[in-house]
Amino acid sequence: VTPAAPARAGAAPPPVEWDGRRLSVLDQRVIPRAELVVELASASDVANAIRSLVVRGAPLIGVVAGYGMAIAAADDPGDDALAAAAAALRSARPTAANLEWAVDRVLAAALAVAEDERAAAARGEAEAIEAENAAAGAAMVQRAVEVLGGARRLLTHCNTGALACGTGGSALTVITAMAQRHPGVHVLVCETRPVLQGARLTTWELAREGMSHELIVDGAAAGLIRAGEVDAVVVGFDRAAANGDVANKVGTYAHALAAAASGIPFVFVGPTSSIDASLSSGDQIAIEERDAAEVRWAGGALVSLPDTPVRNPAFDVTPAELVTALVTERGVARPVNRETIAALLP
Ligand code: MRU
Repeated sequence: VTPAAPARAGAAPPPVEWDGRRLSVLDQRVIPRAELVVELASASDVANAIRSLVVRGAPLIGVVAGYGMAIAAADDPGDDALAAAAAALRSARPTAANLEWAVDRVLAAALAVAEDERAAAARGEAEAIEAENAAAGAAMVQRAVEVLGGARRLLTHCNTGALACGTGGSALTVITAMAQRHPGVHVLVCETRPVLQGARLTTWELAREGMSHELIVDGAAAGLIRAGEVDAVVVGFDRAAANGDVANKVGTYAHALAAAASGIPFVFVGPTSSIDASLSSGDQIAIEERDAAEVRWAGGALVSLPDTPVRNPAFDVTPAELVTALVTERGVARPVNRETIAALLP
């Protein structure tokens, strides 16, 4: 573990660094208290980092998992070793579609060539995933800025900037791009219990960008929307089904209900690698249940009895009919339904 630069204004340190052989990531569990860079030396290191939220956010999980497979192929390019690495990575977290998508892509690229060429093939495919992801981010941001039009007071949930996505970003990058064009842009940031990606990560990114923002507790969102303080809600997503139902960080569905009740736009922004057309509806999306300790504890303090029974679903599903638009690098689904989602896919 190497200490990185102390917190300061300006561009955030890169969430992932790959030098062709070695992979380092910014440890997102400790931001904003510290900026630590962690080296991940094996596929199992990568799987553990994904599981424990050292790295997180659907697009970034895909990028890092791709590099996990590249490291595995360099360590042992045999069929069994690659299958074991792929299984370990795939099982790290169930909800973000990008994880299995990236693992399967790099695995297929490696298996398509002779054993002595697999390390290079896997590395090339993993690097292509990172490059495509960055390009996708830039393209979706352009489209989403147009979709949001004159909205200036935006509400967001969880963390969807470079920390979650790599260079291109998604929903949060849309907000910062809008702020660069329009001085009046202001963001309400939901803290995003239980592990506070909004409070810890989104505010850290917005402060570095010098953006106008306020942190709110998740429970304040519906009332502020109803009071007319929000023009649009914009968030990322982890997995969209073929019918346009969308899984994202737990709490998103409640914001969508509030937005619909007040008639303001609710917009998802993310890459097509987060769309899983094999699932006919959101009911089939696997929702990760995480450790009870995440709910019993907040900010390092026990906030319940130590053995209080807990439910901790990390995601929820927003039905397509509540979604105004789903913006990707390949286009915009609006309205969101089976036909418009299918039109986004190759
Ligand atoms: O549990 P996390 O922090 O990985 O959850 C992340 C989110 O829910 C993001 O909103 C999502 O990955 C979209 S980022 C484009």
